[in-house]
Amino acid sequence: MPSDRVFSDWLKKSRAAVSAAAVGVRTDMLGRVEQVADGIARVSGLPDVRLNELVRFENGEAGFALALDADLVSIVLLDSGAGIEAGAIVRGTGAVVQVPVGEALLGRIVDPLGRPLDEGEAIAATAMMDVERPAPAIIDRDLVTEPVETGILSVDALFSLGRGQRELIIGDRATGKTAIAVDAIINQKHTDIVCVYVAVGQRATAVERVIEAVRSHGAPERCVFVVAPASSAPGLQWIAPFAGFTIAEYFRDRGQHALIVVDDLTKHAATHRELSLLTREAPGREAYPGDIFYLHARLLERSAKLSPALGGGSLTALPIAETDAGNLSAYIPTNLISITDGQIVLGSSLFAANQRPAVDVGLSVSRVGGKAQHPALRQASARLRLDYAQYLELEMFTRFGGMSDQRVTGQIRRGERIKALLTQPRFAPLRTVDQVVLLTALAAGVLDNVPVKAFPVLRAELPAWVDSAARDAVDAVTAGKALDEAQRARLAEGVAALVNRLSADKAP
Ligand SMILES: Nc1ncnc2c1ncn2[C@@H]1O[C@H](COP(=O)(O)OP(=O)(O)OP(=O)(O)O)[C@@H](O)[C@H]1O
Ligand SMILES: [Mg+2]
Repeated sequence: MPSDRVFSDWLKKSRAAVSAAAVGVRTDMLGRVEQVADGIARVSGLPDVRLNELVRFENGEAGFALALDADLVSIVLLDSGAGIEAGAIVRGTGAVVQVPVGEALLGRIVDPLGRPLDEGEAIAATAMMDVERPAPAIIDRDLVTEPVETGILSVDALFSLGRGQRELIIGDRATGKTAIAVDAIINQKHTDIVCVYVAVGQRATAVERVIEAVRSHGAPERCVFVVAPASSAPGLQWIAPFAGFTIAEYFRDRGQHALIVVDDLTKHAATHRELSLLTREAPGREAYPGDIFYLHARLLERSAKLSPALGGGSLTALPIAETDAGNLSAYIPTNLISITDGQIVLGSSLFAANQRPAVDVGLSVSRVGGKAQHPALRQASARLRLDYAQYLELEMFTRFGGMSDQRVTGQIRRGERIKALLTQPRFAPLRTVDQVVLLTALAAGVLDNVPVKAFPVLRAELPAWVDSAARDAVDAVTAGKALDEAQRARLAEGVAALVNRLSADKAP
């Protein structure tokens, strides 16, 4: 019968279709929000979730796992959390939080998850990378030998930085911490260093000022701004430094050089404390959880100079920390000082006395950068710190009408010149060669009779003069060489003539 044939054909086809179909068991791990408050959701039913794993709520918002307890997982919200209520469904994604990396980020302002905060389109990332990545092993590293020039005389001459170094910028509120870091970023306009500025817990206006400064004085097309302002979710602020490092590491790992500024880690520590207390971790010293040191250590450990086998790239870190009434021995400052390779300490009394940048020469150090300093600059600044330290001491004495023989007056006169040289306006970076010329002239005593008031003019006129009249110094410095005796003597004479000309110009 035809109907039988039709039926058996159908049966055969159906059997084939069924056996070809891929049937398997699919598990979907669903959690349930039990409680949500203060940027933290406590979730049950996600037994396999990993630390730092990204989870998604049913309304599309994201979070990551910060504390894993036996039956409840604490999820830090990365969005406002306004639409999340108890009972909401949560899904683990199996991946830790990632951030887009690549060239497409250059010139952009993004949040710590790589979502644009400027008017531009979405980031066309080269890849997604974990925000938490292991630091390079010792065997993968090389010595720090190339300088990072900040253009700030007091840093380059006294506390020079090397590529791959971690240097803390620390000081009280409003002592010019951000200004130093931003000047360092701006000076990279003339180098091959890519800059990443991470703002954690800053006021939006302060972040805007930084971006505006880099846009008008620096090379914004080689900078990435990762911004988690004070108004953003604590989870975003927590993740921001890690995301910034990952973005910078992309360049480091391709043999390029990067500089990251984290503004600032004190606020990051406060966010970590807040989140940890909310997840009921035991508070330790100053109510910070016990893992705060480890948190910042594993973050800063990621800055490195890589070995030639890995491309020789570098990542230099300039974390910023705020002190309270100059107290460097508080918990977070001591932690950060011991994690980094040195610190630039800014003093509020120096700042108030218009000594800006307010670098405290006695308390600041740079432990690895000295070897990376340009030989000509090292030579020119050899006696600088000693002379300045002696001056600071003598100044105290003479202030009370103490001794004043000729030698002492000479030292004080020199010290005042050094102080004037170390005072530098913002957005006015000095090239290495200009620094070498100024310090060579200073060491030769040429500036001793120049009134301190004339220094700003000298500083402004110097680069043009150096380019036209001191070509051999420019060539030597560009070639990375020190200057010989004759060259230095010629430079000192030249600067003396320049100073005379400038004062003659001004006289009539
Ligand atoms: N070298 C300088 N010359 C003149 N003014 C400066 C200099 N450096 C900083 N300032 C000024 O000092 C003020 C404070 O600087 P900045 O915002 O960098 O300090 P901060 O320590 O980062 O402050 P906060 O604690 O608020 O983050 C700013 O108005 C800045 O313009
Ligand atoms: Mg600041």
